[in-house]
Amino acid sequence: MSKIKKCLFPAAGYGTRFLPATKAIPKEMLPVLTKPLLQYGVEEAIEAGLNTMAIVTGRGKRAIEDHFDISYELEHQIKGSSKEEYLTQIRKVIQACTFSYTRQIEMKGLGHAILTGETLIADEPFAVILADDLCDNENNGVLSQMVKLYEKYKCSIVAVEEVPMQETNKYGVIAGEFIDDNLLKVNDMVEKPDPKDAPSNLAIIGRYILTPDIFDILRETKPGKGGEIQITDALLEQAKNRKVLAYKFEGKRFDCGSVDGFVEATNYFYAKSK
Ligand code: UTP
Repeated sequence: MSKIKKCLFPAAGYGTRFLPATKAIPKEMLPVLTKPLLQYGVEEAIEAGLNTMAIVTGRGKRAIEDHFDISYELEHQIKGSSKEEYLTQIRKVIQACTFSYTRQIEMKGLGHAILTGETLIADEPFAVILADDLCDNENNGVLSQMVKLYEKYKCSIVAVEEVPMQETNKYGVIAGEFIDDNLLKVNDMVEKPDPKDAPSNLAIIGRYILTPDIFDILRETKPGKGGEIQITDALLEQAKNRKVLAYKFEGKRFDCGSVDGFVEATNYFYAKSK
């Protein structure tokens, strides 16, 4: 199977936990310091060697497209001034990769958002980043670590993290057997289980590498927990027929979809910037 070049960013969710901020601004555009969450994700994908960013947007998400584009008026206004350096990083991002977009018309869950992205991915393995899970690891980003694993194992891989047992109901949770350091072969996966029913405390976070057969599986996947089409259910189906791996990544992860995680990330990146 071919090398991973494309990264899909499902970014169509309503971000209700951040209302009213997310009423007119996409959650993915909320900044940690001066950079929107989505730009952190795109930079992580570029660092992993990917050059095609495929973004699933929805109504009210136009700011995303404008962000990854040239703003001629602004560029003209600050050209030659000391303020120009503020745009250096985003200019580099825009030059390093291409962006394509499709819209999810009805928000029927993460699995459905990924299936909506099929038109941008076609028949090749790809990465998925949920930008509201902000990851940081010096010089070897979480997606980079996963791409290297994919090159060895050539199968779907999910990033997992140990969470307190009482929080399993916020995540997809896996069970599996270790086949290497920090790497498990998945044999069970449950979406948002009650702690008493959770098969472990290994929670899936917003980094995935998926093989393209996932699209056919998603097409057949019935709505699950919360009436949404869950990627967890599709991955469990894939794990039954092929191998799916879970990787305990190196680095930090902040749940920026929640206010607590967002504040934690802001404090962390602020301290790091000093
Ligand atoms: P979340 O459940 O964290 O996002 O989905 P949300 O629905 O935007 O947030 P809350 O819970 O209402 O605060 C995880 C990711 O999947 C995307 C979201 O944009 C987010 O990146 N998603 C979710 C979609 O793109 N489409 C969907 O139908 C659902």
